[in-house]
Amino acid sequence: MAPLVRVQGLKKSFGDLQILNGIDLDVEPSEVVSIIGPSGSGKTTILRCINLLERADGGRIEVDGQVLCDEGPDGGIRFASKRDIRKIREEVGMVFQRFNLFPHMTALENVIEGPIAVKGMDKGAATERAHELLASVGLSHRADHYPLQMSGGQQQRVAIARALAMEPRLMLFDEVTSAVDPELAGEILLVMKHLAEQGMTMIVVTHEMGFAADVSDRVLFIDHGLVVEEGRASQVLGAPAEERTKAFLRAVLERAPMAEEGDDPDQLNEEPTWSSDPLAAEEAARDSAELARLRNEVAELRQQLFRSGTTRSEG
Ligand SMILES: Nc1ncnc2c1ncn2[C@@H]1O[C@H](COP(=O)(O)OP(=O)(O)OP(=O)(O)O)[C@@H](O)[C@H]1O
Ligand SMILES: [Mg+2]
Repeated sequence: MAPLVRVQGLKKSFGDLQILNGIDLDVEPSEVVSIIGPSGSGKTTILRCINLLERADGGRIEVDGQVLCDEGPDGGIRFASKRDIRKIREEVGMVFQRFNLFPHMTALENVIEGPIAVKGMDKGAATERAHELLASVGLSHRADHYPLQMSGGQQQRVAIARALAMEPRLMLFDEVTSAVDPELAGEILLVMKHLAEQGMTMIVVTHEMGFAADVSDRVLFIDHGLVVEEGRASQVLGAPAEERTKAFLRAVLERAPMAEEGDDPDQLNEEPTWSSDPLAAEEAARDSAELARLRNEVAELRQQLFRSGTTRSEG
């Protein structure tokens, strides 16, 4: 099968600073690839180049058979036409560290915006699909809430639903749990895990080593804009070959707030407190049932993740 994403010799500088020094990365359909590496190593820049939020200055990027950029015979880089770029972008969903929801729109409005404005979908169909998507991220009863009335974990799940509403072939995640309270990270990771199980092709920049170990097919460790080590998650995280990878993993695992064996999973994902606008009793009841279900799944996932994270740290 042809890879869905093919990145070859990707280079990018900012001013005099060469940030990406020739990155190669193939991602097969339905594959989940995690990118790990120190701060400033160029992880976000890779995603931004794939999504054309940033223009590469060397190398070639292909998504779903379409060439985004390529080096010409003179060595200069050439980009696809504006029209093609727009088309390719529609196939690539991205979720950022900061939630980037439109603050003046409800969860539902955030999700239907793209399909209506960009894809020309009619409002009824977009709304129906948005309700399905909000349900799939465990937020059926938050449709009419504004971002400020939601926890960071919920906002991030709306952001995922919003990206999915465009029916992307590829999802890019950039440290999507790092701006939320640690106890809300699990519910986001769970949604991502479900997405992976459904066969979504994903590139995930993450500091969550347990998640990388549990969900990704492959892990890339990058440093100074170069792939230092890449392989199956169990190999790179469990038995890294390179000294730099080992040092990085040691540092991350020492810093990471790991759950202790005796931690009470019920304390994870406490119901968030709302800034205003108390919920109607009926809605609250439905909501807490949904949350309880989600919470159980999250607790299970976290147990799994922490188990794998702890095992790796001993390796
Ligand atoms: N638009 C920009 N202009 C100038 N420098 C930039 C720009 N974007 C990124 N950089 C620099 O490029 C380097 C790589 O940044 P990048 O955001 O890709 O790193 P990262 O691996 O994602 O780091 P982190 O883990 O902190 O998110 C950094 O030194 C950063 O300061
Ligand atoms: Mg980054």
